[in-house]
This record gives sequence, structure tokens and C-alpha cells, in this order.
Amino acid sequence: MCGIMGYIGERPAVPVLLDGLRRLEYRGYDSAGLAVMNGAGIEIRKAAGKIGRLADLIERSPVHGIVGIGHTRWATHGFPSDENAHPHADCHGRIVVIHNGIIENFLELRSALSARGHSFKSDTDTEVLAHLIEEAYEQGPGLTSDAPAGAARSRLAAAVERAVSQATGAYALVVLAADEPDKIVAVRMISPLVIGLGQGEMILASDVTALLPYTRDVVIVEDGEIAVITRGEARLARIGGGAVTREPMRVAWDASAAEKGGYAHFMLKEIHEQPRVLQETMMGRLPDDERIVLDGVALTPAASREIDKVWLVACGTAYHAGLVGRLLVEQLAHVSAEADLASEFRYRDPLAGPRTLALAISQSGETADTIAAAREARSRGARTVAVANVVGSTLAREASDVLYTRAGPEIAVCSTKAYLTQLAALAMFAGALGQARGTLPPPAGASLIRGLRALPTQAQAVLRLEPQIVRLAERLHTVEDAFFVGRGFDYPVAMEGSLKFKEISYIHSEAFAGGELKHGTLALVVPGVLVVALATQPALVDKIVSNIQQVRARGAELVGVATTATADAVRPHVDTLLEIPAADPRLVPVLSVIPLQLFAYHVARLRGNDVDQPRNLAKSVTVE
Ligand code: M6R
Repeated sequence: MCGIMGYIGERPAVPVLLDGLRRLEYRGYDSAGLAVMNGAGIEIRKAAGKIGRLADLIERSPVHGIVGIGHTRWATHGFPSDENAHPHADCHGRIVVIHNGIIENFLELRSALSARGHSFKSDTDTEVLAHLIEEAYEQGPGLTSDAPAGAARSRLAAAVERAVSQATGAYALVVLAADEPDKIVAVRMISPLVIGLGQGEMILASDVTALLPYTRDVVIVEDGEIAVITRGEARLARIGGGAVTREPMRVAWDASAAEKGGYAHFMLKEIHEQPRVLQETMMGRLPDDERIVLDGVALTPAASREIDKVWLVACGTAYHAGLVGRLLVEQLAHVSAEADLASEFRYRDPLAGPRTLALAISQSGETADTIAAAREARSRGARTVAVANVVGSTLAREASDVLYTRAGPEIAVCSTKAYLTQLAALAMFAGALGQARGTLPPPAGASLIRGLRALPTQAQAVLRLEPQIVRLAERLHTVEDAFFVGRGFDYPVAMEGSLKFKEISYIHSEAFAGGELKHGTLALVVPGVLVVALATQPALVDKIVSNIQQVRARGAELVGVATTATADAVRPHVDTLLEIPAADPRLVPVLSVIPLQLFAYHVARLRGNDVDQPRNLAKSVTVE
């Protein structure tokens, strides 16, 4: 969480920092601030609230310079306030820091620093870092002797190294020192950090979307590395010793991919991009009716037949994709598969070993729990495959193989297009695994491939339901409780639909397997409650219709989602039917979630909520 920006170059730093912070705002948006070298020292401006409040403050009280750092916050320690907003300074205002992550031992560091005479202005864990650097800096140049070549020809870099060696936890830390106005020092442990290489300028950010207007040539700072950045170069070294040479990589995304492009919200734009990104995710991977070619994932028949367990680990929406993936792997590849929440997997002593394949699914590739779960699986001998969207992300770099989802930048906190591309990637993966294991014979394989290829056009057709969904949202946006139900492949979709709905509408919502309603939840179904029933699976339609009748008899408002193959069976039992094209039942989740995304969006919009940045949340959850 939290967004970090840094700029050093020839242009005024403030507009670059504010622009970058706006692009990173989805990472956290409860306060923001920046610090700029002004020729005589470092000036700070910061404010609780969104970036707009910081921009207003700067307009009233401008600050000028060509070197600066900026931060947008998602509070972990200390409530959102002007004082707790970053940057934080040392006792003399000569060292200034911004930080993304958590310093776990900050309480003990803080009391030791207080005992040594430091005074604190905030409740944050971050502020201890400013004071630790201050102490190390004051110890003087002798420090550079034990610091690595490359990084620590700077006294500041040596002081930063000394400071972080006392801290435990996660950090992307960016530091300015008034006495070294020609450089920015940054250090990374777990929380992401990238450096954009411009012409006569360098830009630092938490992720590449903030760099795109300036450069597409980036260097990723890895865990345990420190960077000394001047206008002309970015020098990397390992903390504790050893210069690092890393070739820049070129980002394929262009700046317009991270802009709204005429849509009212990023979420709506991203929903409408889904047919195209589905196409891109499959491009080159389904060359004919026989083959599924997964670049980046080696699936030899011998190794594939050795696999006796597939774990799918992920969080939130990506976990819901994992639940669909579990069914796909079992049905197509005939391997026992289990999906688990990454935050649970790592603590359950999982039965994973050398014959296990762990699929770690994550849009950002930076979700702390998912990364930790993948590491846990690997430490038990499992092979790890990342299903990730962000190229070069931590998860992607650490996994044995990577299947990229090619959704492009997803800016809205509420995930939509990433989910669809995860489903497509998992279907291709399960199909390829089935082919390699001999469980998906050619005719069945060809049918799956044709089904996959049809999805972008079918997704476009589903988007045409939007006017009907707007009318539905106008009628139902004041409900107070909603239940989403489904069976088989429809159940994870119900879970995802419910998450979308509550996340941005703030209406209480839960998801259930249709058969479970009568085991307790039915007690909550009273007139006025909304029930959204997924009924897309021909083999299960009679069963879900029975469940629909049970809730209808209690006065619930019924919205059904059916395909053209199941619609006739469902229509008589619901108040509103959203009808989508028929498809291979195993691929229908790619289509059936789209009306639920649109419904959540329009309900949230009509309720006047901040759709792209829902309360209390952040896009990239880099804390545990
Ligand atoms: O970047 P990731 O895919 O690892 O993120 C996982 C979840 O935090 C994310 O899907 C979250 O649940 C979304 N906000 C849901 O819309």
C-alpha cells in the first residue's frame, strides 16, 4: 500500500510528483505529501485527504525545486492526519523520508530514540527511520568505509544502510538529505520500487504506471538493494556490500493505458476493455485447434504426469479466480486441486512437496500474502507458477514459471479485467496441463480451444446488457442486504459478484452455494432482500431453480443470470433475468461475472460512492 514518487532532473519537480501521485493514488488515498529541495534546504507540504487537498495547499503555498519526493498514504500506524502524512523529517528537518511498508520493531526503536533525545511529531512507524538516518548521518563519513562500493560513495547512502539494518519489516524507503541536494537515496525490502530512466532525469515510483508519461525504460530495485540516484544515473548495490548491474527493461504499456479515456471511472473503462484484454491474453497461445502454447510455462508430459496436487493460492478476487481454476484443473487435467486463501495457506502447514504445483495468482504480483504463500510452497519443494499481470513484479520474478495475464494496467481498486484474464489464463493452463497429462484428448481439447476463442466476442455481447443493468440498478440501489448464490462453476462467480457489490456499494452482501441456503442463511431472507442467482450450468439448473424458489417464497427480490441454454428454465422464477450467450459451462464464469461487475458499478455510482477508490481499501496490498 502507499504510493511513492521521486524526481531528480531539470524540470520543476512538483508537477511531476503530483502527476505521479495521482496515478498512484489507487494504492492509498487517505493523505499525501511531498518534499522538495529548494536551494537552501528541504521544504515539505502535506495534508490529510486526497491528492486534491495537497494540490490546493501547494497552490496557496508554492514550493519550487528540481529534486523532490512524494507520497500518498494508506494508514497503518496512526490515523490519517496532516501530522501522520508523509514525508517525515528528522529533528532538524535536514533528513526527510517517505516509506511504503511497515516497520515491525518501531515501538522499541522509537523509545530508544526518544531516550537519546529525539522528538517525534507523528504516530507513524516511518518517523523512526528519519531519526535513525539522522543519527547515522551525524556519525560522519567514517561510515562509508564499510559500505558497498557504488552505493556508498555517498554519506547519505551509508547512513540509510546503517538505519535500515536496525529495522525489521517491509519497506520501500526514499530519502533526501539537505546536505546532499544532488541525489535521492532509495532502499527496498519487500515493498516495490522502480526507477524510470529518462533523458537527464530519473523518476522513482512504486509502480510503472506513474512513470509511463516520462519513460518506458525502467530498472527494478530488488529486495535488499539500495539505489543512489542522481540526474544522470541510478547506481544500485546490495545492502551490506556489492555493486549490482542490472539491464533496464522496456515496459510495453503506454501512458494512455493508465488514463480514463473518456469514461466516468477507471472501473467502467476497465469493464469495457475486457473483450480486448481477453483477446490479448490468448494471443499467440492458441495457434490452432490442437495446441495451447503457454510462453513462460514449461509443461513436459513427463513432468506433468508427476504432479499429484495443484494448489491455487491468492487473495480477494484472485482467490475467486483460483476457485474456478481448481475446478478447471480437476476436470481438464484430472489432478487433485485445492484453492486456498494465501493468508491461510502459509499458516496451515500445507501438504505440499516436490510433486506439488503451486499456482500463485495476483494481478499486482506484489500482494504480501500471496508472495509469502508462494515462498512457503517453494520452501516445501513445490514448483511455483505465477499467474500475474505486472511484468517484473516480485511474484513474477520469484516463481519458477510465469503466465502473464496481459490485462494492461488496472487502476480501479475494484478488480475486473484482471479477473477475467486470470480466468482465461487458468483455463489455458488447465487445458495445457490436461493435454500434457493425456487427460484432455484432441476432440475435447479442440472444443475447449474453440470455446476460449469465442469468449472476446461473447464478452462484447454481454456488455450490451448495460442499459438493462442500469435500469435494474436504478430500481435496486437502495436495498440493504444482498445474497449471491450459485452452484458448481457458478458458486465462485457468486462470491466474486458479492465482493464487487459490497466493495464499492457498501451494501451488506454475502455469497452462498445454493444448496447451503437452507442450512441457516434462509433465516435472513425476508421481503426486500435482494438475491442474485447464477444459473448458467445446464447440469445444475434444476437444482438452483429449487433454491431460487425457496428464497422467492420468502419474498426476496430475484435477479437471475442465465445463458441462452438455461434461460427458459430460470425465467419464470425470477423478477429480472440477465441473459448471456451460451458457452462451454466451464468457461461461462468469464462471461457471467460481467453483468455482476456492471450491476455493482451502477449501484455504487447511483449511491454517490467513490467507485474507483472505495473507502478503507487500497489496490496493492503489500502488508500482511
Ligand atoms: O494484486 P492482487 O491480485 O494480488 O490483489 C488481490 C486482492 O487484493 C484484490 O483482488 C482485491 O480483492 C480487489 N480489490 C477486489 O476487487
